[in-house]
Amino acid sequence: MKVAILGGTGSFGRGVAVRLAAAGVDDVVIGSRDAERAQAIAAEIGGRVSGATNDDAVRGADIAVLAVKADAALDTARDIAGALGVVPLFSVASALSFSKDGVRSDPDARAIAERIQDLVQAPVVAGLHTIAAANLEEAAPQEDALICGDDLEAKTLAIEISSRIVAGAALDAGPLASARALEGLTAVIVNVNKRYKAHAGVRITGVHHE
Ligand SMILES: NC(=O)c1ccc[n+]([C@@H]2O[C@H](COP(=O)([O-])OP(=O)(O)OC[C@H]3O[C@@H](n4cnc5c(N)ncnc54)[C@H](OP(=O)(O)O)[C@@H]3O)[C@@H](O)[C@H]2O)c1
Repeated sequence: MKVAILGGTGSFGRGVAVRLAAAGVDDVVIGSRDAERAQAIAAEIGGRVSGATNDDAVRGADIAVLAVKADAALDTARDIAGALGVVPLFSVASALSFSKDGVRSDPDARAIAERIQDLVQAPVVAGLHTIAAANLEEAAPQEDALICGDDLEAKTLAIEISSRIVAGAALDAGPLASARALEGLTAVIVNVNKRYKAHAGVRITGVHHE
């Protein structure tokens, strides 16, 4: 399976690449605006991880994780739409605003993931918002991953790769509109992290899945 990680030079994308490579995904490609930067990070991770420009990374991929910084998610989706074609695009972005009295989620009623779907022909899925990059480096975190999307095939693939990233469950959280809540939940988790000096995650109780 080929997984492209756009903006995989950043802390979150890099963590995702480390976990996927450790879980045996045979073709993980770090994407960047600068191919050399992507190749340098890929070399640091080692194994069969490679690096390329974002455009080259998505070509021929089974799924592309959009892990550029959240402010750049919409512009990057627009830029790579042509190269992406119908390759499923996995948004992990949450827009947050920081102030002295806490972190707030994006006041826009529609999720970033829904706005990305307006820009690309490919099916957009969203998830992994609540997993801190710092929790990905050493081992798969004991957390659940919540994944949403309107395209069942794309969502199934995103759940499949997410199950290799977390040690908890990768769960179907419904249609792409659920990204409004999942992106908003990031602000809640970041506030908890600040208050308790933690890298908190999410566990869903009462679900039995295979
Ligand atoms: N950090 C976390 O704990 C965490 C947890 C869950 C989800 N997320 C989500 O994961 C995504 C990445 O987070 P991060 O903390 O890893 O971000 P980051 O390190 O700030 O940025 C990731 C990458 O985005 C690219 N980038 C920066 N500015 C750009 C621009 N103007 N246009 C295009 N690409 C640009 C850069 O890659 P190049 O310069 O190599 O192109 C950079 O390495 C965000 O959407 C965030 O909401 C983060």
